[in-house]
Amino acid sequence: MPDHPGQEFQDETSYRRDAMEKHELDWRSKPPIYKFYAYAPVVGLPDPAPALDDYPGPDIYTCVSKRRSIRSFGITPLSLLELSRLLWASAGITNSYVTPHGQDFYRASPTAGALYPIETYVVVNNVEELEQGLYHYRIAGLDILERPIAEGSHSLEQLKSGDLRGDISAAALDQLMCAKAGAVFLWTAVFIRSVWKYRERAYRYFYLDAGHMAAQLSLAAVAQGLGSCPVAAFYDDECNALLGVDGESEGIVYMTAVGRPSLPFGVRRADLRHTSRPKE
Ligand SMILES: Cc1cc2nc3c(=O)[nH]c(=O)nc-3n(C[C@H](O)[C@H](O)[C@H](O)COP(=O)(O)O)c2cc1C
Repeated sequence: MPDHPGQEFQDETSYRRDAMEKHELDWRSKPPIYKFYAYAPVVGLPDPAPALDDYPGPDIYTCVSKRRSIRSFGITPLSLLELSRLLWASAGITNSYVTPHGQDFYRASPTAGALYPIETYVVVNNVEELEQGLYHYRIAGLDILERPIAEGSHSLEQLKSGDLRGDISAAALDQLMCAKAGAVFLWTAVFIRSVWKYRERAYRYFYLDAGHMAAQLSLAAVAQGLGSCPVAAFYDDECNALLGVDGESEGIVYMTAVGRPSLPFGVRRADLRHTSRPKE
């Protein structure tokens, strides 16, 4: 074990002008960029953006200025439409393009090389019309040749049913907000998707890609009057076990807890402690 593995990682993954190796891409071995749970029950989601022109919510500048990490959630459930918009704004399809093999899609968040290594899972604690449990976000549908198609896109594959509040909170270093949240997003990286092109440098990009998705989710939460908190303090092995991934080919990189804030926007518990009581 090196003395400073973090520094070693930074050095080993640096690009240097005089030490760039030639690297031919083998397109035939390009890994697939969609993960499917073929036998999981699928739950459709409401259209996240039926009429953006009529969008009644706050503008982007208001969302940015209001965003704070919210860790205190009330008991009112998230709606399925709110969850749908959070998924779409962080990981959903926003445009399509034509490839030599058919159609493919651009997604809401940027990603190095359009390789989309990040998968989205959701632990559902308290969402209207959705059973508690663990879900995987199905970004696109599949045709019979397993090529991505729009039909069947933007849905959830149910991987587990039941109350996972204790498990998700324990896996997140016992942070109780994950049990109180309406939903907890978990992002994994499927490492080979980006290693195929960027090799060791890909390990920088996983965290950048996931960071973009988390940032977009946090703004989509504010836009809907919801609160969210990014979470990187977690037990990796426990998260991977909860998701049923091995941590080697696919592993947890980031999480975000989302819910209905229990306090008005801009007010924190600490602020309440400093509020002077009315004199009797
Ligand atoms: C990479 C990263 C990891 C974080 N992990 C946690 C966490 O595990 N638990 C937590 O309560 N907050 C976590 N946060 C939230 C930060 O504490 C928060 O962003 C910071 O205090 C600034 O406050 P603000 O988000 O309200 O602007 C994390 C934020 C980032 C960017």
